[in-house]
Amino acid sequence: MKLCVALDLPTKKENISLAKELKEFDVWLKVGFRSFIRDSKEFLYKLKEINENFKIFLDLKLYDIPNTMADASEEIAKLDIDMFNIHASAGKKAMKAVMERIKKFEKRPLVLAVTALTSFDEESFRKIYGSPLEEKAKEFAKDAFESELDGVVCSVFESKQIKEVTSKDFITLTPGIRPFGEEAADQKRVADIKSAKENLVDFIVVGRPIYKAENPREVVERILTNL
Ligand code: C5P
Repeated sequence: MKLCVALDLPTKKENISLAKELKEFDVWLKVGFRSFIRDSKEFLYKLKEINENFKIFLDLKLYDIPNTMADASEEIAKLDIDMFNIHASAGKKAMKAVMERIKKFEKRPLVLAVTALTSFDEESFRKIYGSPLEEKAKEFAKDAFESELDGVVCSVFESKQIKEVTSKDFITLTPGIRPFGEEAADQKRVADIKSAKENLVDFIVVGRPIYKAENPREVVERILTNL
């Protein structure tokens, strides 16, 4: 299991200093909307400058018509990043268009599909998608697998079942991790490291429990020894 640290701090300066603090660790860094919109691709290059072995997950959750998603994915594939994501609810046609478009890149990034956001509880999910969350998350995962994506973003609670209906090698990345039972905040389907392991999760994403800690390095070290 790998740790992916969400660089969700309010300023570029703070994100950079967190990355510098973590430079000796074997971690992935997650760059989301806020910093990518504000600091653009130079920010990604800066992270690789801090440690060229940092792996970068660009969390932009693309959702649009197939051609627009393929165009955007092609631009993303030109950046020096290692993984990005799109929404499974954009449909198989869109997911296939993305994979078709980026297959020409010699070293293409991994592509994951978002199934159900971890901030949804059962009721709010059903209101939008009209089906039970677990069932729909599995269906989205199957669609992503059949569209030849590399894996999905899901909660710990769906990870094992998703592997059962796809493949054990189909990547699951799970946000909503509270490593040692910390406060959930806006996340609903939260779990700790122990249950992530039991559910065969490949990547855990941790944001606030690290960057809001008094000593983020210490928290990362503790997480890594427990993976
Ligand atoms: O602070 P916290 O650990 O809750 O951060 C989780 C991170 O994972 C945030 O950056 C959030 O945008 C992201 N994320 C998520 N749920 C998803 C996909 C991404 O929480 N389904």
